Amino acid sequence: MNAAVVHAFDAPPTYATFPDPVPSPGEALIDVTAAALHRIVRSLANGSHYGSTGVLPFVPGVDGVGRLRSSSGQLPAGARVYFGATHSPYGTFAEQSLASAAMLLPLPDELDDATAAAIANPAMSSTVALRRARFQPGENVLILGATGASGQLAVQIAKAGGAGSIVAAGRNPQALEMLKALGADATISLNQHPEPLAAALREELDGRSIDIVLDYLWGSPAETLLSAIAQKGLDHAARRIRYVQIGSMAGPTLKLAASTLRSSGLELLGSGFGSASLEQIGAALSGFFARIAVNPMEFIYRTAPLREIGALWNSDSQGARLVFQP
Ligand SMILES: NC(=O)c1ccc[n+]([C@@H]2O[C@H](COP(=O)([O-])OP(=O)(O)OC[C@H]3O[C@@H](n4cnc5c(N)ncnc54)[C@H](OP(=O)(O)O)[C@@H]3O)[C@@H](O)[C@H]2O)c1
Repeated sequence: MNAAVVHAFDAPPTYATFPDPVPSPGEALIDVTAAALHRIVRSLANGSHYGSTGVLPFVPGVDGVGRLRSSSGQLPAGARVYFGATHSPYGTFAEQSLASAAMLLPLPDELDDATAAAIANPAMSSTVALRRARFQPGENVLILGATGASGQLAVQIAKAGGAGSIVAAGRNPQALEMLKALGADATISLNQHPEPLAAALREELDGRSIDIVLDYLWGSPAETLLSAIAQKGLDHAARRIRYVQIGSMAGPTLKLAASTLRSSGLELLGSGFGSASLEQIGAALSGFFARIAVNPMEFIYRTAPLREIGALWNSDSQGARLVFQP
């Protein structure tokens, strides 16, 4: 088959031929129609993601949309599905791929292939994280790093889920402004020194009684936010804050003072492959697809033929998610 193939961790994939995948029992063979270039796809292809096996060559791509080659469970041959690739080295940037039954989700007719492929992974980031935090309508959410594709959807998903108040923090002023139209009640610029930033974060954490933090950044901005969550004095009962770590755009590590955990109601969680099961991710995405089939969300993507993978791999897509079509 034709596919994008990663031959080296320090070079873009090339468009080449690759052996056809052969399904094992319990797996489905899929004719791929669309697969998107998410952050995780890049970091698996350069070997930096915790999910990287270190084995070369392989086809990149973690999810996509396609048609079932033969029936699987309740789904007939030809069914249009969103799927997650579960069988290394067969990723989704190819004419064919493989998926286990837990990650085969039939798509509503209203949702076209490219939209579903583009939006699923960034949407999963907050739908699954909010479930892990046991979010309840009326609770207040702060999104750290809200200006990216996943953060913009997180604002809309929290809003649609009935969040009381939504605070969006990010560094891009135009994107922050746009987030107000998408549902953010307040925004905080990350383009300030740690001290004033901590003060601005503390004001919103306390003023709006933030219950849940969705963190796409880690690194220095998260360090500042965690210092703002820490409390002073001995005479308070600290409010519970469920802090969900989702992405690490600002750095893979940070310094966390022991007193932050002792003085506050901070509960640290992560959300991603591993901390959430495929069944949990599938359930969250099924609900999301059904919801946007009726009430679409703002999301920008553009499509390109898969044979252009080499030229487009490192291109700046200016905020639009890139969807490859074999
Ligand atoms: N765990 C999960 O389930 C899951 C799912 C999807 C994504 N993710 C992760 O979430 C993160 C964001 O993904 P995405 O899809 O939103 O990516 P994206 O659309 O490419 O957006 C990345 C965003 O990160 C911001 N950023 C980068 N470095 C920053 C820094 N030092 N300080 C502040 N902001 C910074 C950029 O801000 P500017 O606009 O200012 O450039 C941009 O808005 C990635 O780490 C991704 O791997 C996790």
